[in-house]
Amino acid sequence: MIDVRNLSVTLGAASAVRKASLSIQAGDRLGVVGESGCGKSMLALSLMGMVPDALDVSGEITLKGTAMPPRDESLWRPHRARTMSMIFQEPMAALNPLRRIGDTVMEPMRVHLGLSRKEAENRALALFAETGIRDPETRLRQYPHQLSGGQRQRVLIALALACDPELLIADEPTTALDANVSLRITDLLVRLSQQRNMALLLISHDLGAVARATKDILVMYGGDIVERGPTAAVLANPLHPYTQGLLGARPRIEQAAGARRHLPTIAGSVPGLFDLPKGCRFSGRCPVEMPRCAQVVPENLLTPQGFAACHRIKGAHDDG
Ligand SMILES: Nc1ncnc2c1ncn2[C@@H]1O[C@H](COP(=O)(O)OP(=O)(O)OP(=O)(O)O)[C@@H](O)[C@H]1O
Ligand code: SF4
Ligand SMILES: [Mg+2]
Repeated sequence: MIDVRNLSVTLGAASAVRKASLSIQAGDRLGVVGESGCGKSMLALSLMGMVPDALDVSGEITLKGTAMPPRDESLWRPHRARTMSMIFQEPMAALNPLRRIGDTVMEPMRVHLGLSRKEAENRALALFAETGIRDPETRLRQYPHQLSGGQRQRVLIALALACDPELLIADEPTTALDANVSLRITDLLVRLSQQRNMALLLISHDLGAVARATKDILVMYGGDIVERGPTAAVLANPLHPYTQGLLGARPRIEQAAGARRHLPTIAGSVPGLFDLPKGCRFSGRCPVEMPRCAQVVPENLLTPQGFAACHRIKGAHDDG
């Protein structure tokens, strides 16, 4: 349903996302992982046509067969909320503290679907039930501060589902929640995706959640997609040195599924946008770096389980 080719998001000479290509089909569940600042949110915003004005966007995005120039608001607007919607990284920012929850959730239904107040209310109640919000009638009339973190997150999910999107993008949907609640929210997202045949793009620092919830995984580093493949295969047998580093501190993926685990630390930190090496962006931190790595951008290579971009992997192919 959405196809992205060579998408770059740049700020002058620096790129927050560099030549990313991916496609998402109905019912896919795709996880995106990578350290802070790797471009995960920027990639997600690109899929919504919502990259901040300060940055430039280039590349091709095709949505259900239509080419979508990144800045053509008249093309994007009708799709937001309806074709795809996003749960943003800052949960409190998405809910106006001075507005009743019901009014917030009903607004997109009235604006995009043209529902009457009564129809929107019925739909909100049905969505609250579907997303496991307790006592829906009361919730409609409450304000955000009257809800627990978990219930608030369910409201945000209900809000994102207001117009039956075909793709739901969830950017760190469980960061602010404790482990148990986080697990239940993750499972809810999977169930909704399956029941509605809705694609799910799950951005998360929680590898356990990604292992549990997604079929495929995208690993990002410094604005590059460095590895992609089926989640179980990539986590069990990571090929890119960065993915290996991310998983390094984890003994077994079976233990990660179900348990909440944050990404282990790799020595050093992600350089700022303007300090990224011009070749492989992991050079400088990579334990198996070669002299050409900092200068030459590695190509995307097919691997037995997906693809990865690393000169070492090419070397392995060359050798045999
Ligand atoms: N509005 C903005 N203007 C300029 N640069 C930005 C803006 N927002 C983000 N960036 C930069 O773009 C890069 C990618 O940021 P992004 O928010 O996509 O990272 P992320 O992977 O989502 O990180 P996190 O895990 O912390 O959410 C970073 O270097 C960040 O500093
Ligand atoms: S291209 Fe070089 S620096 Fe980059 S991950 Fe591979 S070996 Fe490491
Ligand atoms: Mg982010």
